[in-house]
Amino acid sequence: MKPGNILVVDDEQSQREIMALILRSEKYEVDLASTAKETVNKFQNGEYDLVLTDLKLPDTEGLGILQQIFRSNPLACVIIMTAHGSIDSAVEAMKQGALDYLTKPLDREELLIAVKRAFEKISLVKENNRLRQQLQEKFHVSNIIGDHPRMQEIFAVVKKISNSTATVLISGESGTGKELLARAIHFNSARKSKPFQAINCAAIPETLIESELFGYEKGAFTGAANRRIGLFEAADGGTLFLDEVGDLNLHLQGKLLRALQEKKIRRLGGSDETVIDVRVIAATNKRLDQEIKKDQFREDLYYRLNVISIQMPPLRERGTDIPTLVSHFIQKYNRNTGKQIGGVSREAMRKFLEYSWPGNVRQLESSIERAVLLCEEDVIGAGDLPPEICRLPSPLNVLGLELPPEGVSLEDLERELIYKAMEQSDWIIMKAAKLLGLTYKTLQYRLEKHGIKRPDLIASNEAIKTPEKV
Ligand SMILES: Nc1ncnc2c1ncn2[C@@H]1O[C@H](COP(=O)(O)OP(=O)(O)OP(=O)(O)O)[C@@H](O)[C@H]1O
Ligand SMILES: [Mg+2]
Repeated sequence: MKPGNILVVDDEQSQREIMALILRSEKYEVDLASTAKETVNKFQNGEYDLVLTDLKLPDTEGLGILQQIFRSNPLACVIIMTAHGSIDSAVEAMKQGALDYLTKPLDREELLIAVKRAFEKISLVKENNRLRQQLQEKFHVSNIIGDHPRMQEIFAVVKKISNSTATVLISGESGTGKELLARAIHFNSARKSKPFQAINCAAIPETLIESELFGYEKGAFTGAANRRIGLFEAADGGTLFLDEVGDLNLHLQGKLLRALQEKKIRRLGGSDETVIDVRVIAATNKRLDQEIKKDQFREDLYYRLNVISIQMPPLRERGTDIPTLVSHFIQKYNRNTGKQIGGVSREAMRKFLEYSWPGNVRQLESSIERAVLLCEEDVIGAGDLPPEICRLPSPLNVLGLELPPEGVSLEDLERELIYKAMEQSDWIIMKAAKLLGLTYKTLQYRLEKHGIKRPDLIASNEAIKTPEKV
């Protein structure tokens, strides 16, 4: 364990110095004080892990020094030193919270053992506090899985905004959990007992979105046989989720902006305005800043929506969450199918971790759903994964080939590969063709083309030729 900072308190200079010497020889940082006043002063201004103090100081009596230290920090770690024979005050000091006591005259070994024990205790207490704090800080928003720091940051934002009505804009690639988060925001908010209404602006024909959102009066258009309230009114007191808000056309963007600014809407064909109390959460997988540049999205609406901005990270950027997500979805599909898959094989997990997940969590979920259905063993194996995830390694990777900066000649490479395959196949063309995925005829043609010949044949040819040359 790392040695820590100790404040040594004694009114006798020689005592202080000898203790400092012993402790420093064990790499502890040591500071010294000789009175209660000096101790409290130093203790309040410095960072000490441990105080080692004599009870008998010129400016306090009894356990006075202990009480003063605890007054400045109730959790201080203190070892007291008492004169031989005053065991009663030692017991009392322990009752009041001292970690340990030592009797004078001090023994080097005893001193070091007591200090070491104190530091072990301190580190346990620190670890305990750290874990407790972590537990309090780390909370999961309903059933959204995310231990990754970026998800934890998002959960912290959700917690912070739970009682506000500020508009939220959630952006992120498809399948990253935008809708799931929107629901979590609603169900973690003071509005949770009021409705959550959702509309997907990309999935509904433009002509219908307006009446869906704002409702209509009887006779507002052909077919409007009765009055109908829109989602803004239906979500009264609750949350309206505008999914794929980047797909709204400019006309509707204007109407939406007005509704958000004025907190009032007017049904189609109506003349009265209705006051609305709705929290809007919008989501998009488009880059709205770029849509603004292309004049496809109103900048004023963007700022109105983007009061609180949440960016869902793509799954490939939070790979540490993959194992938890995998077991979460296995449990889910075990329940759905009545199967009892226990997990995934090492090989399958490696594939999951290596894959880039363009479809994010949704794609991971459907891969698990499929694998649970296909799996005939207790655990999901690499063979149960969709082919895009379980791709065979590329030939270049198999060969461990990196192209040199100056490049290579494909022609030369082919010649060498064929030569190598022939060598490995004992110069049996049929065998080598198989190794290279070629037909016998194609390989024969390429052998001719590259002039590849079995070396012992060349040698015997030369042997015949040599005498002629001489
Ligand atoms: N962190 C997560 N924990 C558990 N399940 C998740 C998580 N993120 C997403 N999912 C699941 O993945 C699927 C896709 O999530 P969701 O529909 O919220 O994504 P999206 O970002 O709205 O996608 P799109 O842009 O395509 O609409 C859902 O089934 C959802 O339950
Ligand atoms: Mg969605």
